[in-house]
Amino acid sequence: MLDLHCHIAPGLDDGAQDVRQSLEMARGLAELGFRQVAATPHLPWGSLFTDPVEFLAVLNSRLEQLRGRDCPVQLLAGAEHFSDVVPLLLEKHRPVCYPGTDNFLMELPLSGFPARLPDLLFRIEVRGLHPLLAHVERYPQVQQDIAAVDMFHARGGAVLINLTGLAGDWGREAQKTCERLLRAGKVDAVTSDLHSPEQLESVARGLQLLEELVGEQERRRLCRQVPRQLAGLDPAEKQVER
Ligand SMILES: [Fe+2]
Repeated sequence: MLDLHCHIAPGLDDGAQDVRQSLEMARGLAELGFRQVAATPHLPWGSLFTDPVEFLAVLNSRLEQLRGRDCPVQLLAGAEHFSDVVPLLLEKHRPVCYPGTDNFLMELPLSGFPARLPDLLFRIEVRGLHPLLAHVERYPQVQQDIAAVDMFHARGGAVLINLTGLAGDWGREAQKTCERLLRAGKVDAVTSDLHSPEQLESVARGLQLLEELVGEQERRRLCRQVPRQLAGLDPAEKQVER
């Protein structure tokens, strides 16, 4: 399996605080069957980093520290972009995409979709980029009506949910929303969004619930096949197939 969303890079955000924690997370994910993990630290424009190139250099140097210590998973560089920073990145640079792809991870305010979201999705689309929407089960609009994710698909985006959300870590409403989205076939990929080794247990529970809900074949599609396409590991099929 491949995890598209993980705060495994040490000391860059509210995820792993040091190399020891990162390696513990990597070992836990490997035990659960993950072979590749994308390191996607939060990218808040203007605080720690103002330039994605500088950001990638720092991120890659942190990932090198892990690779040098027998990290049991292959690490890919990425970033979780808060939607506020994306307009600036589109103007001045480019969001941090998964290596060799036009796909990047984006999160929205948990309080609700911003008013300018349709415009932002349009601007992303005309740049030829594809946003992967993180943990959609936590957005109030999606909790009210799962059809709210259709606008992401309509603009070439992908819909992601978290295993921790499916396991109930973010409340019953988020958990039910995961289940509804999965039953309706509206989920493209399932991720860990792991922030600490303590969450590994609920990632494991989420995987078990996922397989109970959709079966082994669909679980594999959501955790392996589509994530590999979106991360550019199967280059012939970079785009999500629905
Ligand atoms: Fe995240």
